[in-house]
Amino acid sequence: MSTAPAAAALRFNARVASMQPSATLGMSARAKQLRREGHPVIALSAGEPDFVTPDFIRAAAIQAINDGFTGYTENLGMLPLREAICEKLARDNGLRFEPNQILCSNGAKQSVALAINALADAGDEVLIPAPYWVSYPEMTRLAGATPVALPTTVEGHYRVTPEALEAAITDKTRIYLHCSPSNPTGSVYPREELEALAEVLRRHEDVFIVSDEIYEYVVFDAEHVSLGAFAGLEDRVITVNGFSKGFAMTGWRLGYLAADLPIVKACAKIQSQFTSAPCSITQKAGVAALEMLKTDRTPMDEMLAAFRARRDYVLGRLNAIDGVVCPKPEGAFYLFPQVAPYYSTTAPSGRAITNSEDLCYYLLEEHNVALVPGHAFGDPAGVRISYAAAMSDLETALDRIETGLGQLR
Ligand SMILES: Cc1ncc(COP(=O)(O)O)c(C=O)c1O
Repeated sequence: MSTAPAAAALRFNARVASMQPSATLGMSARAKQLRREGHPVIALSAGEPDFVTPDFIRAAAIQAINDGFTGYTENLGMLPLREAICEKLARDNGLRFEPNQILCSNGAKQSVALAINALADAGDEVLIPAPYWVSYPEMTRLAGATPVALPTTVEGHYRVTPEALEAAITDKTRIYLHCSPSNPTGSVYPREELEALAEVLRRHEDVFIVSDEIYEYVVFDAEHVSLGAFAGLEDRVITVNGFSKGFAMTGWRLGYLAADLPIVKACAKIQSQFTSAPCSITQKAGVAALEMLKTDRTPMDEMLAAFRARRDYVLGRLNAIDGVVCPKPEGAFYLFPQVAPYYSTTAPSGRAITNSEDLCYYLLEEHNVALVPGHAFGDPAGVRISYAAAMSDLETALDRIETGLGQLR
């Protein structure tokens, strides 16, 4: 006979209980369910390029398998990969690191989580500009620290001003979480704005900076600048990057962080007890991706050209809709339009729309297009649209959004 405790006794770790599940994944799951039921849903909710990994990179992984490169690597990641990362950071970002200051992890997501867990403690605050990537606050809660949103404005292209940053930093602030190009807004900080933020951060010597640069290679007419390259911040910036977005390698799970040695050691300690290094075959693919960056960027240029055409198309269609305002983003593959004028309306079906979630479920369930509600990103006045989808799907999706919004009274 079972001696299992009654369900009422099931108790979770308090920090896990305080976390929210991912709204992005939730929306995608609902969209998939509707599709299974036969609805012609177009999902603009996912955060991944709709391209396959370039041939050159895939061939390197196949070679690694055929060579039997199938064992564990060092916890930090294999040396040739870390050397290639150092070379890339020096060449493309003006960042000087030794290979022992690089930690390779299972995606940039894990690197961000490691940095937060290594540095933030109970009572500490992590300052997160909003709209933010859904995972930052939840990673912060899991570390036992407190996420603090720092709102930005549409007029300011969703970028934090030095004045707002200065005003938001308190003696509890442990980490400032910087993301450029940004998910969910696509905004990219120009060099002079970063210099002004760096000036503020120089004055606050107890604040560490996690700079998430995962969309570095998805920028249009803009320069990607690393916050870690500004004088006086070298020891306090943890630069996070990876392969998922720029090289269309989301499924391979490879990211990394670069930081001052004691920080890397603390992150490595966590990684060694949780996951160890990422997959050996993936690491070989990572070396090939960095080789491709030096020798032939054609596959990346082609992706970028497609993203740019889609951005321009979707942006034009959105801003032509009454009551929708969307700034022009210079990077990533998202748009974050403001749609709040539709929050006190009713659909012809009788469905009341009072917030971003209502609006997204209305568009999904009555017009077959999946977006992600802005409240998940800390800005309930907006919704996130991913344009990593075929142009023909974007055309149909925009027709549906226009029709759907047009029917609200
Ligand atoms: C801002 C941001 N950082 C990190 C990640 C995670 O990337 P990875 O697939 O390398 O874990 C994502 C993925 O959506 C992201 O949008």
